[in-house]
Amino acid sequence: QANERESLYLVSEFANTYFQKILHKTDQGKSIGLSYFKERGFTEETIKKFDLGYSLNEWQGFTDEALKQGYNIDYLAKTGLTIVKGDKRFDRFKGRVLFPIKSMSGRVLGFGGRILVLDKKAAKYMNSPESDIYHKSKVLYGIYHAKQSIAKEDNCYLVEGYTDVIQFHQTGITNVVASSGTALTPDQIRLINRLTKNITVLFDGDAAGMRASLRGIDLILEQGMNVKVCTFPEGEDPDSFAKQNTLEEVSTYLTENAKDFIQFKASILFEESKNDPIKKADTVRDIVNSISKIPDQIKKEIYIQECARIMDMSESVLFSTLAQIDSKTA
Ligand code: CTP
Ligand code: MN
Ligand code: MN
Ligand code: MN
Ligand code: MN
Repeated sequence: QANERESLYLVSEFANTYFQKILHKTDQGKSIGLSYFKERGFTEETIKKFDLGYSLNEWQGFTDEALKQGYNIDYLAKTGLTIVKGDKRFDRFKGRVLFPIKSMSGRVLGFGGRILVLDKKAAKYMNSPESDIYHKSKVLYGIYHAKQSIAKEDNCYLVEGYTDVIQFHQTGITNVVASSGTALTPDQIRLINRLTKNITVLFDGDAAGMRASLRGIDLILEQGMNVKVCTFPEGEDPDSFAKQNTLEEVSTYLTENAKDFIQFKASILFEESKNDPIKKADTVRDIVNSISKIPDQIKKEIYIQECARIMDMSESVLFSTLAQIDSKTA
């Protein structure tokens, strides 16, 4: 229902303004939230550009203010900003720094909230729940601020987290969006596909990041897009890397380390399997399987030739493997 969705947008926009006011204008906001962002290396300008905010460490400070301003409790509950239990009402975000998540056109859909000090009892990030305006599988964090430069650069960097997007912007690389920790979805890729055919996946330098990049590749290829992958040194992510390096250093690193998907898959899978013929066979099948997702026949053929060269196999064996896969999925 259009009217109800409009109400959810309005209450989210109110929350966005409120949380920024708390960050910039209250003692708790300044001494805890703002200091946290500054320690992460974010400038005042960056903090304002991304509308970063803070939620007081109180049970219902936000909810009370929203009700006082005349916002309806049903909409507060539906956006998840307020949690209703019987006749009790609690703020969802409590003592967290906040990252508003915006649509392509800049409307606030929801929030990600980070605790300041890591703690085994609480999740590092808490996010808004799904609602009529927030479908996390259809949203990319940062798309509003990145869309023009993605089109202009004709490439999109895809990262995992909120802070990766923000730190890249501050460094001077603005064609970047985040999947926000969820497995990449076809709808998210479609958003990028409207702006460019080229994606460079930049996932964290850890095992989870590596697995996430591998999974995303086939989905990107299926949409006829070109995919490169660039990994970071062990323990680093795009945020920490960009914080320690200049724009020139980051740009050089990205250019030198971005590998075409086939080289990327071959290099990591091949490392594990080179002395084991059975594993090597699995690796080859895995790569040919990715190639089979490419809609364009000419590109497919070029990639098969490339794969044959890298894996030291004959092209004819790879073409017949491809034909087998195609016949199974046809
Ligand atoms: N994430 C989440 N819930 C968690 C952990 C992660 O929603 N409990 C999402 C967040 O969007 C986060 C992204 O996954 O930004 C990547 O996770 P991670 O690499 O662990 O966090 P960072 O973004 O690197 O955050 P930080 O640097 O603050 O630790
Ligand atoms: Mn702003
Ligand atoms: Mn990670
Ligand atoms: Mn990370
Ligand atoms: Mn990080």
